[in-house]
Amino acid sequence: MSAVPMISESQSLDMTAWTQTRLSRVEQALSQWVGDGAPAGLGDAMRYAVLDGGKRLRPLLVLAAYEAVCSGATASEVHDDAALRAGMDEAALRAGLDEAALRAGLDEAALRAACAVELIHAYSLVHDDMPCMDNDVLRRGKPTVHVQFGEAQALLAGDALQAFAFELLTPDNTLIPAATQATLCRLLARAAGSAGMAGGQAIDLASVGVALTEDQLRQMHRLKTGALLQGSVLMGAACGHAVGAAYQALSDYGAAMGLAFQVVDDILDVVADSATLGKTAGKDAAADKPTYVSLLGLARAQAYAQELLAEAHEALARSGLPDTRALAALADMVVRRSH
Ligand code: IPE
Ligand code: IPE
Ligand code: MG
Ligand code: MG
Ligand code: MG
Repeated sequence: MSAVPMISESQSLDMTAWTQTRLSRVEQALSQWVGDGAPAGLGDAMRYAVLDGGKRLRPLLVLAAYEAVCSGATASEVHDDAALRAGMDEAALRAGLDEAALRAGLDEAALRAACAVELIHAYSLVHDDMPCMDNDVLRRGKPTVHVQFGEAQALLAGDALQAFAFELLTPDNTLIPAATQATLCRLLARAAGSAGMAGGQAIDLASVGVALTEDQLRQMHRLKTGALLQGSVLMGAACGHAVGAAYQALSDYGAAMGLAFQVVDDILDVVADSATLGKTAGKDAAADKPTYVSLLGLARAQAYAQELLAEAHEALARSGLPDTRALAALADMVVRRSH
């Protein structure tokens, strides 16, 4: 790839405008893709779970990582790099396609990845709130899905959202190379499954009333929440065909930011109110869950979140990528957020 000038974090990026543009693209795509056509009210429950709420942090991370990797490179340069690694598949795809068509394929992959990870996240919230897990009645400022539609429908809405995420990643008649589709499926499956979110949720349920060590708590948080956030970054990086040191640095950024996210979630459960959070505050202590606040106390938990934020910034600095300002701003948002 040709050398491009580095843009330092201190050069300002209009993050409000950046975010608004991407959010409206993601909202529109989710609303179009998650239709109400599923039978017997299932579509209504799916749309209720996904639309009209949520910070959409994971989609924003996908798009920010994708853009960071692509910044300064033309689509054919990104595809050239990919062709070197993926062999004929990418090379064959490239034959006969102009720059605009190549870019459209990359952009489509990133938008589909952004929506797919949000579907997995929404499904994880539906199941997390059910009576057999956290038994919550409020989510994103609305009654939870099982309260609104019943437990069986909530279970099925989660199942269907999970399956649909993978369908979104593997469209017919697309400019997205098959190798990229497979990579995105693998990254998302790994982040969502027993080595990621589902595994972490199992540890969470097994840890009620248990005094975990700091190492055990870190592992639980890395899995139940960190894995999907890190996976979002890696999926964006994969859409832009990141390799080597840049990919590793983005992975390190995702790990630090993802853990920071759950440390802050633990803190907000204690310091924020339900109206601000859009979910019931004070649930962790009431349910006797081990958290960073119960283990370290509020002040040390806050200091730890700041340490992780610094780690995330250091990882971006060593990525060698020319413009990581959106990723940097999203990490700041993770730690400084109020809900
Ligand atoms: C909440 O995630 C669940 C956790 C993983 C702690 P978010 O705080 O990202 O929830 P939404 O998507 O904004 O509702
Ligand atoms: C849940 O963690 C993480 C998920 C995988 C959904 P929490 O149980 O702390 O999330 P909230 O606080 O209910 O959003
Ligand atoms: Mg939970
Ligand atoms: Mg919960
Ligand atoms: Mg929580």
